[in-house]
Amino acid sequence: MRIGVIGAGHVGLVTGVAMASLGHEVVVSDADETKVESMRTGTPPFFEAGLSALMRTQIEQRRVSFSVSSRESVAGAAIVFICVGRPSDGISDTSLSAVEEVAREVASEASDGVVVAEKSTVPPGTADRLRTTIERERPELRFSVVSNPEFLREGHAIDDTLRPTRVVIGADDEHGREIMEELYAPIVQGGSPIIVTDVRSAELAKLASNAFLATKISFANALARVAELSGADVEHVADVMGSDPRIGRAFLGAGLGYGGYCLPKDVVSLERFSERHGYTFSILEVTSRVNEEAVAHVTDKVREAMWNLEGKRIGLLGLAFKSETDDVRASPALELARRLIAEKASVVAHDPMASDRARAEMPDLETVDDPYAAASGANCVVICTDWDEYRGLDLNRLRVEMAYPIVVDGRNVFDPDEMRTAGISYFSIGRPSIET
Ligand code: UDX
Repeated sequence: MRIGVIGAGHVGLVTGVAMASLGHEVVVSDADETKVESMRTGTPPFFEAGLSALMRTQIEQRRVSFSVSSRESVAGAAIVFICVGRPSDGISDTSLSAVEEVAREVASEASDGVVVAEKSTVPPGTADRLRTTIERERPELRFSVVSNPEFLREGHAIDDTLRPTRVVIGADDEHGREIMEELYAPIVQGGSPIIVTDVRSAELAKLASNAFLATKISFANALARVAELSGADVEHVADVMGSDPRIGRAFLGAGLGYGGYCLPKDVVSLERFSERHGYTFSILEVTSRVNEEAVAHVTDKVREAMWNLEGKRIGLLGLAFKSETDDVRASPALELARRLIAEKASVVAHDPMASDRARAEMPDLETVDDPYAAASGANCVVICTDWDEYRGLDLNRLRVEMAYPIVVDGRNVFDPDEMRTAGISYFSIGRPSIET
């Protein structure tokens, strides 16, 4: 099939390259000329494991090309994926102008029978607005608008696209459903279940999935506070809870909380969408509040461990919002760095991939290329991102590098007993402290 993808972010670029690898002819467009030039050389504008190699193969086989013109993506396409990002609030009419603008561009070039597929996470009802906009521009055009939400996680995006836990198609007409089922047939044959619903249910299900994942994390963080106050270990509590298949262990990890481009925004989007429709989704307000408190709680732990922060040297390990990505959007690690610097601490940070992007957000942030350099002479080291590299640190060397052997673990990466053996005072989230 000829497929167009509009928007070359984490979702659009991965979707386009993955669909090309299934044998389709794909044109990915993005308004950012620098990004397009970079992609034409097989270089993704962000890190995603395996993406560069897959891109280069598809470029060599001339199955994917890149353009600044969305019209090129649309011309002759059987399916056009809309993968444009949503500005901050993600819900109000103004914030969906990017999607509406794309609808007009689609309308101007679309071929008869085109299926317009919403891939970006959008408020329920967006497909109706897309449909109205296209009808107004091209009354004679026969087309379908479907919802095809992605559930990809950064760091696992290709796998989550080619081997998703489920394919979701929201379609209100036979044509849209048939074309999308044809597209996803090889993935369904590969073992991924497919769920076909109406468009609005698919749109709401995507928002609800992310909001629920965020709520699960905030539940774990609230539980961690109770564990700390009652002498329990939240990791053991989560293990017991998670052993119930109705609950599941994933996303019960207490720590600095959730960040990234999706979860924070989708919680707010669903909350505001509900409010606009007359329902106060109060659980989500608490989900966001507990998440904000999570960073304040780690800040308090660092301050308590240091007695006061002014003039203290603090080494942060991790800047990305999670491991296996260079993405720092809404990263709790950066929020923690800002709070420590605001209290006049001297902060030096390490991250295996995200230092450049972190400094683009915080130009004054001192970063180093080696985790032990971040610990050198530090009064305290704080784990902010769950990189495997940190799990493998030589704790004896870490202790020797530091001015004071104190670690605050914002992602519960370490085993407290290992810290006790290494002679390091250890403060983590929801677990008893180790004071040496
Ligand atoms: C998320 C959803 O998982 C994915 O399905 C959706 O398509 C896009 O949004 P992503 O934003 O890549 O994916 O990150 P995710 O792996 O969900 O982690 C989100 C945040 O939650 C990270 O900051 C992570 O550190 C944090 N997290 C995750 C926790 O704090 N505790 C946990 O137990 C799990």
